[in-house]
Amino acid sequence: MDSIRVQGGIPLQGKVTIQGSKNAALPILAACLLVEGPVLLENVPRISDVYGMIRILQGLGCQARWEQGLLRIDSEKAQMEDIPGELASSMRSSIFLLGALLGRFREARLWRPGGCVIGKRPIDLHRKTLEKMNVRFAEEGDRLSATARDLQPCSVKLEFPSVGATENLILTGALAEGETTLEGAAREPEVTALCEFLNACGASIEGAGTRKLSIRGGRKLHGTKFRIPADRIVAGTYLLAGFAAGGSMLLKEAPVSDMTAVCDLAERMGASLEASREGIYCQFPQRAGELPFLKTEVHPGFPTDLQSVLLAVRCLGRGSSLIRETIFENRFRIAGELQRMGADLQVLNDREVRVRGVERLRGTEVEASELRGGAALVVAALGASGETIIRGRRFIDRGYDNICKDLRDLGARIVSG
Ligand code: UD1
Repeated sequence: MDSIRVQGGIPLQGKVTIQGSKNAALPILAACLLVEGPVLLENVPRISDVYGMIRILQGLGCQARWEQGLLRIDSEKAQMEDIPGELASSMRSSIFLLGALLGRFREARLWRPGGCVIGKRPIDLHRKTLEKMNVRFAEEGDRLSATARDLQPCSVKLEFPSVGATENLILTGALAEGETTLEGAAREPEVTALCEFLNACGASIEGAGTRKLSIRGGRKLHGTKFRIPADRIVAGTYLLAGFAAGGSMLLKEAPVSDMTAVCDLAERMGASLEASREGIYCQFPQRAGELPFLKTEVHPGFPTDLQSVLLAVRCLGRGSSLIRETIFENRFRIAGELQRMGADLQVLNDREVRVRGVERLRGTEVEASELRGGAALVVAALGASGETIIRGRRFIDRGYDNICKDLRDLGARIVSG
């Protein structure tokens, strides 16, 4: 039952409400460890990575339960424990526990994080910034421990605006007495969401959404109610899906101001978009227009998380495209699967792929091996003739609340199982 079946070639038509953001929810869940008193989170996506993070929090003694659609987390009774290896290694976002545990307990013991197999994903930048705060690390095989008897606020500069390293520094800095400043911070909307959440709990973090963050730490944080913002990557996935299948759609609650690069690209490829308070209304051409070149970039550039989905779309577009991945290596794992569907593409090296659009892909059996690549195969299947079976649904479930239902709301013929 770990598969998805798609009957392709049917234009999309309808509206879908965009789920809460995975990449905002996960660090915010970790941040609950810093808060005294219950936190009520609205719009938390029901995805397997969120369930994994909840299990980790419960293992640390936090209470977590769903109440009328909201997730209630109370960390009062949390205790310092080892994070179980099988949970930590199954999800990349377990790395946020590093900053949160250091903030709360001044120590952390965890396993090297796992997650998608899209590249090396080192944590040297996380370590370097936290070391500036007087955190000491020790490694034994895949186990990592960190201690800071005396957390020191500091001024640090990131050599690359890593999202995870920025978030970990915020998490630790929020409870470290004094002012910590970070230059070269990541500007991704999920970083802003984390700062907004902590500020709603009584923290004082300035500069979210810019390259310079200032965290005045050490204040007691209190419980709050907070709404997880809509997922710009899910919205972007469905928007791009419109190019594979054609038609029109309303993406309700899509976070349009965080999606400038994707919306600009969609317009360049011939879609007509109209943003309103309700969301984004999109109308698609019969076939995506030419796109000679695109590279992924840090926000506000085109997001790496949508690169595979764009690749699927370009397999059906006009002309040939060179796509350059600048964030992660090894992010073209779906190339072989797309070729089996009849795509004309060539991986030039681990950062570049050239694709020449064909009129139609053909349905067949393909295998997802990571989250966004899996979603990209679903998108390709929408534009393929006949039936496509995508195996490895569990990878897609890590980030999409219910991709089959969402796409059915848009008129696609898609079922799981
Ligand atoms: C990345 C994405 C983020 C996305 C998330 C989930 C970027 C900049 N980040 O965040 O938008 O939501 O994946 O898929 O697009 N790096 C190091 N050392 C470190 C940390 C990172 O060299 O300590 C390198 C990585 O190898 C990678 C780049 O920095 O090449 C981006 O890393 P980072 O932003 O930290 O990744 P995530 O936090 O996973």
